[in-house]
Amino acid sequence: MKSAVRLNNIQEYYFSKKLREVELLNNNGKSIINLGIGSPDLEPHPKVINVSVDCMHRLGSHKYQTYRGIPEFRKAVADFYRKQFNTKLSWENQVLPLMGSKEGIMHISLAFLNKGDAVLIPNPGYPTYSSVTKMLEADPIYYQLDEANNYQVDFDALENINLKKVKLMWVNYPHMPTGANAKDETFTKLIEFGKKHNIIIINDNPYSFILNNKPRSILEGNGLENNVLELNSLSKTFNMAGWRVGMLLGKASLLDEVFKVKTQMDSGMFYCVQKGAVAALGLSENWYTQINNVYNERRKYIWKIVDKLNWKITNKEASGLFVWAKLQHNAKSEDVVDKLLYEKGIFVAPGTVFGSKGEGYVRLSLCVPKDKICEALSRLD
Ligand SMILES: Cc1ncc(COP(=O)(O)O)c(C=O)c1O
Repeated sequence: MKSAVRLNNIQEYYFSKKLREVELLNNNGKSIINLGIGSPDLEPHPKVINVSVDCMHRLGSHKYQTYRGIPEFRKAVADFYRKQFNTKLSWENQVLPLMGSKEGIMHISLAFLNKGDAVLIPNPGYPTYSSVTKMLEADPIYYQLDEANNYQVDFDALENINLKKVKLMWVNYPHMPTGANAKDETFTKLIEFGKKHNIIIINDNPYSFILNNKPRSILEGNGLENNVLELNSLSKTFNMAGWRVGMLLGKASLLDEVFKVKTQMDSGMFYCVQKGAVAALGLSENWYTQINNVYNERRKYIWKIVDKLNWKITNKEASGLFVWAKLQHNAKSEDVVDKLLYEKGIFVAPGTVFGSKGEGYVRLSLCVPKDKICEALSRLD
C-alpha cells in the first residue's frame, strides 16, 4: 500500500529511532547514560497527584469532558498568566486547553495552512514545526539563528525573504535547543513584523520557568490585540510531560478557528488531569525555586562534562532544560555522538536533529539525576 504523498518528506522522529538503538545496547549489557532527551525525571508536586487521584474515585470523573475544558482549568490558566506575565486574558475565549503544546502545533497548522502556503521556522529549532508544515504540504522557510547573535531573530534578514506566501511564523523563546532568551524588544518587533506582513506569530513557550530569571510572554503588552498566539505547557514547568496538558492563548477569533479543528480531533481532556493541572498552576513560588535549584546543581556537572570533552558551553545564562555545546573545530555532530555512545556509553543529542544550523553542536539534557551525570563524568577520565 502506497502511503500518502504528505509523508514523502517525513521520516520517523530521530529520537524514536535512536532510542531503539540505545535500548538495544542496554539489552546487550551496556549501561547507557542517556543525556539526550528532555523529559523531566522529577515528580509533580504531591498535591497535584493527590488531587488527581482523589478525583478518580468521584462519580462522573470518567465521562467525556467539554471540548473547551472545564471553566475551573481555564480560569486557573488565565490567573496564572495574570500573575506571571501581567496579561488580561479572558478565560472564556482567550484560553484553549490542549493535550500538550505539541498537539497545538498540528492544530494551529491545520487551522490556517493550505497546500503551498509558507511558514517561517527557526533553524535551529524544534523539529515538529517543520515536520507538521511538510505533512500539510506547506513550505517551510527557515530563518537562521546564529550563536554570534545569541540566537536572536535577524529582522533585516527576514525582510529580505519573499514573504508573499507566509501565513505563520514559529518563534520559541526561551529557545530550544540553545536556551537563548528573547531580547527585551524582540516580542514587540515580532508583533510589528506580523502586522506588517499579515503573518500569525506564534511563540512556543514551554521553557519559560526553567532556569529563567525573567519569564516573558509574547502576550504581554499589546500582544492580545494582534494576530499573535502563545503555546504553553505543564510538561516542563510542573514535571507533567506524560499527563499531556498544555494550552493555547491569544486572540479569540484565532482560537475559535483552532477550536474547530480540535473538536474534530478529541473528545475533551480527562477530568482528573484538568483538576491536577489546576492544582499545579496554583503552586507557590517555592515550587519554581525548588526545581530550579535541582537543575542548577545538575548543570554545574554537565558543564564539567563539556569542559572535559574540550567542547564549549555556548551560554552560561541559558534557560530551559539543556546545555547547548559547541564541538571542536570541524567536528561533525552525529560522528561525535556515535563515538561517545559506543566508546563511553553516554548518549547526547546531535545538534543536526534541530536543523542544519545545529551542525557542530550537541545538546545535553538536565533531566538526569546528579549521580548519573557524575558517573558519566567519571567515564571520561
Ligand atoms: C520547543 C518545544 N515545543 C514544544 C514541545 C512539546 O511539549 P509538550 O507537547 O509536552 O507540551 C517541546 C518538547 O520537547 C519543545 O521542546
